[in-house]
Amino acid sequence: MILRLRTREELARWRARLAPGAALGFVPTMGALHAGHQSLVVAARRECDAVLASVFVNPLQFDQRDDFERYPRTEDADCELLHASGADAVYLPAAADVYRPGAAARVLPGPAGADFEGRLRPGHFAGVLTVVLKLLQRARPHRAYFGEKDAQQLFLVRELVADLDVPVAIRPCPTVREADGLALSSRNARLDAAARAQAPVLFRALRAAVALYAAGERRPPALEHGMRTVYAAAGIIPDYAAVVDDATFLAPQDGAGADAGAWRAITAARIGGTRLLDNLALAAC
Ligand code: PAF
Repeated sequence: MILRLRTREELARWRARLAPGAALGFVPTMGALHAGHQSLVVAARRECDAVLASVFVNPLQFDQRDDFERYPRTEDADCELLHASGADAVYLPAAADVYRPGAAARVLPGPAGADFEGRLRPGHFAGVLTVVLKLLQRARPHRAYFGEKDAQQLFLVRELVADLDVPVAIRPCPTVREADGLALSSRNARLDAAARAQAPVLFRALRAAVALYAAGERRPPALEHGMRTVYAAAGIIPDYAAVVDDATFLAPQDGAGADAGAWRAITAARIGGTRLLDNLALAAC
């Protein structure tokens, strides 16, 4: 069985026992693990001498109390999956181990965190970046692994380590999908049969933008319209269906980057009460 570390002191002792010079790979998660997380651990195992995961449902990044409380907690199954995927240890702190009473300092995202998830979930990215920085400082990994599914989060984490001189290499890992294109997410467990049948609409909308782009379309509003048309046919109004420049995570400037294939289609939608998000690079496929 995998070693379970419950406190920052246990984590520090485990970290101190690693062989000098051993490369540590770190996979931060909120649990309810699936094959997407597994692929992050497998990548870390391939590239590093030791692999640490964390499972912490971070209260700071939830803007809705109810969403935090309903977030699935499946510790034993998570530990089994982490062990089977090759992790050596998992840090499973309680909130009181992570945040001292009254802790008020936050890491704030820059302009790239203002729109999309940042606009729809006030405080979300400050919560994510604050906990990611704390976990990186405690684990002191050489490499940390993040899924591309949460593209805006990944972008902001990269800015965090670059702007605050955090000595870690961020390793992005491709989104893992079901056969019908639905991106794996811990939230998929909440979809009932009808919602599960509707959920691939996000992928279909993104594919519509990719197809338009492949046919030469370079006007962001036209690419976005293509996505919205797919949603409309399914009777769904997305939270957003947008095109961003991969270099800034902002709306592309006229023509800039388009021919270099540096644009990304991103979307989020509520399907049967569950909020899902996904993205595809427009150069893909
Ligand atoms: O992507 C997640 O699961 C979370 O946002 C993270 C990075 C573990 C921070 O809580």
